[in-house]
Amino acid sequence: MAIETLLKEKRIFRPSKKLVENSNVMQWMKEHKIKTYDELLKVASKKRSWFWGELAKELEWFSPWKKVLDWKPPYAKWFIGGKFNIVHNALDRHANSFRKNKLAYIWEGEPGEVRKITYGELYREVNKFANALKELGVKKGDRVAIYLPMIPELPISMLACAKIGAIHSVVFSGYSAKALQHRINDASAKVLITVDGFYRHGKVIKLKDSADEALKDAPSVKKVVVVKRAGNNIKMKRDRDLWWHDIIEKQKPYCKTVQLEANTPLYILYTSGTTGTPKGVIHDHGGYAVGTYATLKWVFDLKEEDVWWCAADIGWVTGHSYIVYAPLMLGVTSVMYEGAPTYPDPDRVWQIIEKYGVTVFYTAPTAVRMFMRFGRSWVKKHDLSTLRLLGSVGEPINPSAWIWYYNVIGNKKCPIMDTYWQTETGMFVITPLPITPLKPGSATKPFPSIEADVYDENGKPLTNKGGDLVLTTPYPAMLKTLYKNPSRYEKTYWSKFKNMYLTGDVAHKDKDGYIWVQGREDDVLNVAGHRIGTAEVESALVSHPAVVEAAVVGKPDKIRGTVIKAFVILKQGTKPSSTLVKDLKYHVGEEIGHIAKPAEIVFVDDLPKTRSGKIMRRVIEAIELGKPTGDISTLRNPETVNALIKLKNNRK
Ligand code: WTA
Repeated sequence: MAIETLLKEKRIFRPSKKLVENSNVMQWMKEHKIKTYDELLKVASKKRSWFWGELAKELEWFSPWKKVLDWKPPYAKWFIGGKFNIVHNALDRHANSFRKNKLAYIWEGEPGEVRKITYGELYREVNKFANALKELGVKKGDRVAIYLPMIPELPISMLACAKIGAIHSVVFSGYSAKALQHRINDASAKVLITVDGFYRHGKVIKLKDSADEALKDAPSVKKVVVVKRAGNNIKMKRDRDLWWHDIIEKQKPYCKTVQLEANTPLYILYTSGTTGTPKGVIHDHGGYAVGTYATLKWVFDLKEEDVWWCAADIGWVTGHSYIVYAPLMLGVTSVMYEGAPTYPDPDRVWQIIEKYGVTVFYTAPTAVRMFMRFGRSWVKKHDLSTLRLLGSVGEPINPSAWIWYYNVIGNKKCPIMDTYWQTETGMFVITPLPITPLKPGSATKPFPSIEADVYDENGKPLTNKGGDLVLTTPYPAMLKTLYKNPSRYEKTYWSKFKNMYLTGDVAHKDKDGYIWVQGREDDVLNVAGHRIGTAEVESALVSHPAVVEAAVVGKPDKIRGTVIKAFVILKQGTKPSSTLVKDLKYHVGEEIGHIAKPAEIVFVDDLPKTRSGKIMRRVIEAIELGKPTGDISTLRNPETVNALIKLKNNRK
């Protein structure tokens, strides 16, 4: 459905002359005697190492790199031999400059309290906490798990780890105890940083209780640091749990930033894949810093006086790259908000933009669609005239949402930067720049120097036809490997087409070379902009004592883009009931987290399977969407197809 609408979209929007003329990218082009967007793309592709080397020089290096790129597919090393630390660039250099008293973050809690943190203050807090981590025995290369909501201690913890060369693994605060436990154990984290509780939709979410549950079987964790946020009652385990405020009290506000080879790991971030176990994506200090810094500077055109608000959660890659590292490296002021975007009223976001004079705002299509549903009257109550650019990420933005965002929020003067990227890419890879003519619904073209293509099954490039979206060149922030699992890295991303990065998305390229991403092609669902592996949800369902087998598929939804529908086979003798449906939804919430809960669960006697016993999700999905089932001759049990069709018709 979405694909058909996209194909019909013909409108082109051009950013204003003034914006183009004053943009960071235009400035750079002038300095490098490059005249047009097309020329920029050409030069950057042809002289990839030169291009990134020039941009890398805008950051501070303890000692210069010997070579910009060493590309031995599928492994890339960037800025080899360079001595670097991302925190020196994000913090130390600002704390010793005119930005010392400039705001790094304006933080607003859901109940309404405000904390304004300058670069100087952030620097001191990070140093104190880095010293505390050292006292707890954290050393270079050690893993530290961070299970925190959107409070300033989250970026502080991440930066403190990076400062001393420890590797952070942030686990989204909406994930369950089980999900946290799995991630802690996979990375053998030594320390866990968490919180008593936080606010969401007016309620206190008791995160320490989940952390305690996870720690019942997480032997690598020796110490737990607890931030006091909501003041709810919690249990502190003797000899293991420490209050954040106690351990930083006596620490010195100075801590040396370790000098690291540019390719040293910075963090692990787990993301869903096609199997039940999440993948630990590894990003490093040097390449990741250069890639995120340059993309934010060029795409969102951030300047010294901008107020930037990336309304994602730091628990996802969007927050890692574009709430924590890149905006701090640019020295801009960011807004950070703790709670739900519609609490207490649907205009909370517009209120925040007005209050702090936000100039660039970045959110997800699912949020735009939700705001659309609430209607423009909530928007019109506020003065949003400070806005100059808008952004979108997480899933394809349907042209009608794009136009609403453009007209109602941007007042027809803010270009919309539809940025396509992934946890793995670390930075925007297909994205407009402020000089790019925009087509609503298309992420436009690859960032300069990157080449992308759409392939058929045999690796032949396609125009105007859907196929596999691949990236055919390396770029600095690309993932370096999967934690402790290089063979999975090679197999998942680099084996379908030799030496080409497989994104897992379907897209098509139009005659102008614009790329239109259509959605995931593998067994990964994109629910409200969050990646969820079907296998993860299925294994959660099967871990319930009443369930023998389960298959989940995505179903289109007006607001969330996709919702999860589960087909469940019960153990013999177990009766289907609405209580059991509730119970199973709750169970998935406990196993993975609220975001993975199926919207709908139906009970079936059997599921279509191949002769080797693999569930044919594709067939179930086709039936659910009323599409042709395709070839079902290879099924072991073709009768299940009719049974599912009958079940669907009965429910109507
Ligand atoms: C989807 C989020 C279309 C895509 C940064 C990708 C998008 C997955 C866009 C990565 C976009 C992200 N247009 N689809 N602008 N941005 N996606 O790892 O399916 O949470 O593969 O990273 O989101 O999700 P992830």
